[in-house]
Amino acid sequence: MTEKNGFEPRIIGFLCNWCSYAGADLAGVSRIQYPPNIRIIRVMCSGRIDPVFILEAFKDGADGVLIGGCHLPSDCHYISGNFKALRRISLIRKVLSEFGFEPERVRLEWISASEGDKFAAVVRDMTEQIRKLGPSPVRMPEVRA
Ligand code: FES
Repeated sequence: MTEKNGFEPRIIGFLCNWCSYAGADLAGVSRIQYPPNIRIIRVMCSGRIDPVFILEAFKDGADGVLIGGCHLPSDCHYISGNFKALRRISLIRKVLSEFGFEPERVRLEWISASEGDKFAAVVRDMTEQIRKLGPSPVRMPEVRA
């Protein structure tokens, strides 16, 4: 990943342990190619993702945030975590848009453990989408020594 010839998005991915993280792992072991722009943080459930995590990610330099969870309605291992994530993410997207963020910078996807190809496709698509949007409105310019 280089920024020499242009902007390279930084994406933070919060992935639930039981489905989306396993899907990302499957993409890896299956050697499915996807951009190296994502940094993954494993959480036990998408319902564990506090909106503050998303704000902190942007504050710390992310250009986009991907949240991955188990498919609706009944795949969540904690019964209703994915419903909680759905409500919270739609709310945080509205709040962020009030502050000049494009809502596309926050994306919620349901990715199962068997969907390594879907995980890779989502990362490819989101990287391209964020590349078109440009850097986050709060991203600080990098200081080079
Ligand atoms: S355990 Fe995956 S969304 Fe709840």
